[in-house]
Amino acid sequence: MVKTQDKLLNKPFFLKEINEQPKALANTLAQYLAPNFQLKMAKPPLDDQTIKKINKAYITACGTSYHAALTARYIIEELAQLPTVVEPASECGRHQLLVDESTLAVAVSQSGRSRDTLAAMELAKRRGAATLALVNEAPSPLSRLASGYLMTLAGKVDTLSSTKAFTSQTLVLGLMGLRLAQSRGLMREKWRDEIEKIGRLPELVRHALSYEDQVVAISERLMGFEHVFILASGPLLPMAFEGALKLKEVGKIHAEGYITGEFGHGPLAMVGPRTPVIMISFADDGDRSLDLAAEFKDRGAPLFLISEDGLNLDHNLARHSELFLPVPQAPSRMRAVVTIIHLQLMAYHLGRLKGLDVDNTGGLIRSAMANHVVAPEKTNGLVEPRLTSA
Ligand code: F6R
Repeated sequence: MVKTQDKLLNKPFFLKEINEQPKALANTLAQYLAPNFQLKMAKPPLDDQTIKKINKAYITACGTSYHAALTARYIIEELAQLPTVVEPASECGRHQLLVDESTLAVAVSQSGRSRDTLAAMELAKRRGAATLALVNEAPSPLSRLASGYLMTLAGKVDTLSSTKAFTSQTLVLGLMGLRLAQSRGLMREKWRDEIEKIGRLPELVRHALSYEDQVVAISERLMGFEHVFILASGPLLPMAFEGALKLKEVGKIHAEGYITGEFGHGPLAMVGPRTPVIMISFADDGDRSLDLAAEFKDRGAPLFLISEDGLNLDHNLARHSELFLPVPQAPSRMRAVVTIIHLQLMAYHLGRLKGLDVDNTGGLIRSAMANHVVAPEKTNGLVEPRLTSA
C-alpha cells in the first residue's frame, strides 16, 4: 500500500478528479448537444409521447448523488412546471409513495449499483412509473432496471468520494429539465439563451479552480475548529449539503449544511467563537443573510463568505466576514456547480493539512461499498426485496 505521504506527492485521486471536472462536463455536454442548439435527449422515457403522459417527477438517489438530485427540483419546477419530489432512496417506500403511471421516476447513481437506489427504482417501476436512470456506468444494474437511461461521461472514477460525477449529474439533470420543458411546449423564446449559458459551464468550472489559493487560506483558518456550519438557500442549498458531506468525509471536520432562513430558528444557539460559519450568499439573496451575519459578529463567530466575485467589499455582508471566497461570475442557474468547486477543494486541503489519506476516507458503510463493486452480471438487475409497498 502506498504511504500517505507518497500518495500526496503523487497527487491523490480525489484532487485529480476535482481537476478533471471541466473535461468531464465538456464530454458530458457534447454527448447531448446537437447542432442548432438542439438536445439529443428524446429517447424513452424522454420521448414526447411519454412526457405528455406525466404530470409529476420523482427523483431519488443516495449520498452525493442525492444532492445532485436535489438540484433537479429547481430547474424542473421552474422550466418544465412539473411538481417534483426528491428524496433519499433509503426513505422511498417508508411513507405513502405517490408514484404512478403519470410519474417520471428518475434514479441517480454514479455506479448504478447502490442497493437503496435500485430498490427505489424497482418500487417506482412496480407502480407503473416511466423510469429513467442517470448513471456514469452502463451497463449496470440500474441502467438495466430502468426503461431508459442517461449517462454522465465523467470518465473512470477512482475514488469513492464523488466530485466529477456529481457536477456531471447536476449538468445532465439540468438538461433533462430543459428537455421536459421543450416537450411540454414551454421555453420557446428562452431556449437558445439557456443552451448557450449551459455551454459555458466547463469554462466557468475551470475558472473556479483557479481560486485555489483563497480556498487554502480558509482551510488553514478552519484547521483550529471542530465544527462548521454551511448556510445557503434556494438552488444553492444542495451545495451546502454536499459541501458539508465532503468536509466531513474528506476534511474530517464536523460540518452541517443548513437553510439560511431556518438558521435563526434554533441552531443559532450553537454559534460562537468556536463555531465558524460559511455563508453562501449572493447579492440577490436579500436581507436574511445580512441579519444573520450581524448576529454572528455579535456572538464572535468567524464568518467566511462565499459570494460572487466583484462583490463590493464595502457591502455589509463582506464587512461582517473574516474571509471572502469569490465565485466566478456565472449565470444564476450555473452558480451552484461553480460554487461546489470551492467546497470540494476545501475538503481536500483540510484533509491534506491534517495529513490524511484523502482517497481512503472510510466514509462509506461496508455494505454500501460492496454495492459499488458488485459485478453487474451477477446482479441480473435484481434487488434485495427490502422494501414493502406503502
Ligand atoms: C460521497 C459519495 C457517496 C455516493 C453514494 C451513492 O462522496 O460519493 O455519498 O454518492 O454512495 O453512490 P452512487 O452514486 O454510486 O449510487
